[in-house]
Amino acid sequence: MELFSLKDKTAVVTGSLGLIGKEHCRALSEAGANVIAADLDADKCGEFALTLLTESMGISLDVTSPESVNGLRDKVIQKFGHIDILVNNAAINDMFEDPKAASEQSKFENYPLELWQKSIDVNLTGVFLCSQIIGNVMSVQKKGSIINIASTYGITAPDQSLYKKVDGTQSFYKPPAYSATKGAVIMFTKYLAAYWGSNGVRVNTLTPGGVENSQDEFFIRKYSAKTILGRMAKPSDYKGALIFLASDASSYMTGANLVVDGGWTAW
Ligand SMILES: NC(=O)c1ccc[n+]([C@@H]2O[C@H](COP(=O)([O-])OP(=O)(O)OC[C@H]3O[C@@H](n4cnc5c(N)ncnc54)[C@H](O)[C@@H]3O)[C@@H](O)[C@H]2O)c1
Repeated sequence: MELFSLKDKTAVVTGSLGLIGKEHCRALSEAGANVIAADLDADKCGEFALTLLTESMGISLDVTSPESVNGLRDKVIQKFGHIDILVNNAAINDMFEDPKAASEQSKFENYPLELWQKSIDVNLTGVFLCSQIIGNVMSVQKKGSIINIASTYGITAPDQSLYKKVDGTQSFYKPPAYSATKGAVIMFTKYLAAYWGSNGVRVNTLTPGGVENSQDEFFIRKYSAKTILGRMAKPSDYKGALIFLASDASSYMTGANLVVDGGWTAW
């Protein structure tokens, strides 16, 4: 198991307070890494970091702000002296608070420029900035692993009929910015892998499928039926893949996209 060990490694996880982000942090810590749980709320990051097994820190981070990313890098270097793993996990997945208006607001024809721009800022520019500022520490160290979290919707288009209720009305449309930004993350990964390969920095994408999280029963049923393994993911289903990409177990892998989706994209 030495190959999968992350002992004495320092790992930064963005969006660490989210549904899957917390599991990424737990996985890295269970494999031995000291984890920097980074998200918008400093207090909650601090509280969550205390629950991890290894010496970990919670640091507030806005991935869209160069000052914020620089500040995080400086704090981590001051405490640990090196950064070995970066998980670019923070992302916006538009939620439409008012269920009555959601269908109209999320329609492509009506989708607001502000929401498009916000997703580009967080899902894409955030990945760029964290890779540039934190990844550069790895490039100077001549070793590191960057893992960019995409989505099956960055590979295949959303099937909007999944969001149609039993009575035939559309609950909402999966918005265009999510697919566009996740597709871009997969290509950005390849760009950076090629650029930093000779500096010992590996860059890979992890593509998760949908996680079950109290969605409407009709949605869970339809989604599961479209998945080869017949179910949605559990938040912990990505832990093994993340440890693999972060560790020397994947030492000959870069520029790749590890798709962990219960077979969603295979048929
Ligand atoms: N949940 C799923 O079904 C699913 C499926 C496929 C891919 N993904 C991807 O996995 C990743 C995690 O998903 P999740 O479901 O845990 O999301 P989530 O919405 O539960 O968590 C996202 C986290 O990102 C943080 N965040 C938002 N803007 C930020 C910013 N500017 N700076 C720093 N942090 C910010 C939020 O505070 C939140 O804690 C995302 O990249 C998502 O696109 C999720």
